[in-house]
Amino acid sequence: MSNYHIKGLEEYFQVYRKSVNHPEQFWEEIAEENFVWRKRWDKVLQWDFAKPEVNWFQGAQLNITENCLDRHLYTRGNQTAIIFEPNDPKEAAQHITYNDLHERVCKFANVLKDKGIQRGDRVCIYLPMIPELAAAMLACARIGAIHSIVFAGFSSTALRSRIQDSECKMLITSDGSYRGGKTIDLKGIADEALQDAPSIESVLVVKRIKSDITMKEGRDVWLQPLLDKASIHCDPEIMNAEDPLFILYTSGSTGQPKGMLHTTAGYMIYAAYTFKNVFQYRQNDIYWCSADIGWITGHSYIIYGPLANGATTVLFEGVPSYPDYGRFWQVVEKHKVTQFYTAPTAIRALAKENLSHVQKHDLSTLKVLGTVGEPINEEAWHWYNENIGGKNAPIADTWFQTETGGIMISPIPFATPTIPTFATLPLPGVQLALMDEDGKEIKGNQVSGRLTIKFPWPGMARSIWGNHERYRSTYFSTFENHYFTGDGALRDATGYYRITGRVDDVIIVSGHNLGTAPIEDAINEHPAVAESAIVGFPHDVKGNSLYGFVILKEAGESRDNNNLRKEINQLIAERIGPIAKLEKIQFTPGLPKTRSGKIMRRILRKVAAGELHDLGDISTLLNPEVVESIIENRL
Ligand code: PRX
Repeated sequence: MSNYHIKGLEEYFQVYRKSVNHPEQFWEEIAEENFVWRKRWDKVLQWDFAKPEVNWFQGAQLNITENCLDRHLYTRGNQTAIIFEPNDPKEAAQHITYNDLHERVCKFANVLKDKGIQRGDRVCIYLPMIPELAAAMLACARIGAIHSIVFAGFSSTALRSRIQDSECKMLITSDGSYRGGKTIDLKGIADEALQDAPSIESVLVVKRIKSDITMKEGRDVWLQPLLDKASIHCDPEIMNAEDPLFILYTSGSTGQPKGMLHTTAGYMIYAAYTFKNVFQYRQNDIYWCSADIGWITGHSYIIYGPLANGATTVLFEGVPSYPDYGRFWQVVEKHKVTQFYTAPTAIRALAKENLSHVQKHDLSTLKVLGTVGEPINEEAWHWYNENIGGKNAPIADTWFQTETGGIMISPIPFATPTIPTFATLPLPGVQLALMDEDGKEIKGNQVSGRLTIKFPWPGMARSIWGNHERYRSTYFSTFENHYFTGDGALRDATGYYRITGRVDDVIIVSGHNLGTAPIEDAINEHPAVAESAIVGFPHDVKGNSLYGFVILKEAGESRDNNNLRKEINQLIAERIGPIAKLEKIQFTPGLPKTRSGKIMRRILRKVAAGELHDLGDISTLLNPEVVESIIENRL
């Protein structure tokens, strides 16, 4: 039996039992046998969910880039680490070997040091999916700086608030980015963000689209000339197991995005372990995750997980629809991809297109398929299974979160029998519990409840940057001594889990987490708006779309004002990003409120979804009459 690489169902159950009965021994063996350490730990685990405080491998020292790069140089220095596939299929792909990547990271790390970046400093990275993004994050990790990657689709306001929140000292961006047939002025967006970001001392600019941009003297510098001069030698900074590795922002149901803080040793072990098992990666495989590195999926399953296993990982700059809807499949064929990992929203979008886009390509190299980010509906699952996997590649429906650092629930391909829409079983080390509304655990099978985790796992976030109390109250206060995920789930007769969706006010649109509060704040900034509430409603490609109910200040304002709708969406795009735009905006004289003044979103959700027959009990409302008007004017 191998703890590290599970190959069969019986083995899975054995390993799982061991991970629950002897968690410390279980993770200790994995840590010992599969990673390089500068100093051994004194204690495997120390924890207290009430504080909450979780320490894994206390006392140990290491550098994650030594584990992802240096140690592979002797065994696979000339093997490709990253295949870079550019946005334009006519531009040549790059095969970056472990030797090359090591050199690029060391040079980049020396540039960071020259610019005054030190251990513990925060560096914000706002880059498209190009090799410099991988090198930048690893360079930070090399010298002990904390990276905070902001998805390059976010607006200047979103970028600014993230830079401000973690007081980043440096921003790494590019002159622009490609997105299908369009170019995006990333540097322009970054400049706007930096109008109010006093912590930023310098900006490194990668040349990608070769556009004319303004460089602010004394602040902005082109990266390449600095790299050209930099030494290829850079000793890794020796980090403590619990030193911060990165901050990654995620939306919550209230307030501003939360800077989830991940630390070094536990995260590394967890990303590597789950990658190996969920994708059943073997030497010479070509693995591709189509997510953006700006999300946790990209952090853990494009960069850290694959590289810690010495894998070959594809870094794709493009989009599924450019130059046509066959792009994903063309890339699979071109690079002979063996594992492919994407989001249900992409599958649904591609399934709507002509099947000839798929059939033109040889997909026979694919062994394992994965999905992540939202529940996958049955139809999409079957399309993926039949047309992409040829019914011959198991689908790993993987459930996890920015907060969990790595995959928590997933079939182990070739071991766990799959069932459409079920993420199936917890991975080793993951102790799930379903809870009822009174905070009691629901035991047994064929039950549903709120999904919680009752024992620490190495990849969990340790805090919210600058606000540990918010970390405690968001995740550890709803259920005593349990981490609360915010999701609902059911456990079927065989013990398989199916995620039923968020039970809070987070809405997942095209796999992106959107909190209602920041969007409502953006809407309310419009001078004509008095108040607003947004809810999600089902959409056949995006999973959910956003429906806004907006109260205007002047009752006389036209309710059919399309200009106003455009302005509101423009504001949302500026404050958050185009992804958060509302599909429907209904102007309304009021919102249904409870006597304590809380908006009753349950009713709005039903109206948006067109489920008008069963609005539930509205007698507790302060203003039940408003419901009728809302239904009447439903879009
Ligand atoms: O609601 C769950 C949903 O995505 C949320 C986490 O979002 P985020 O932190 O952005 O991370 C996304 C990538 C890991 C979860 O709380 N979710 C994620 N994977 C699944 C899912 N819902 C159902 N099935 C999944 N496989």
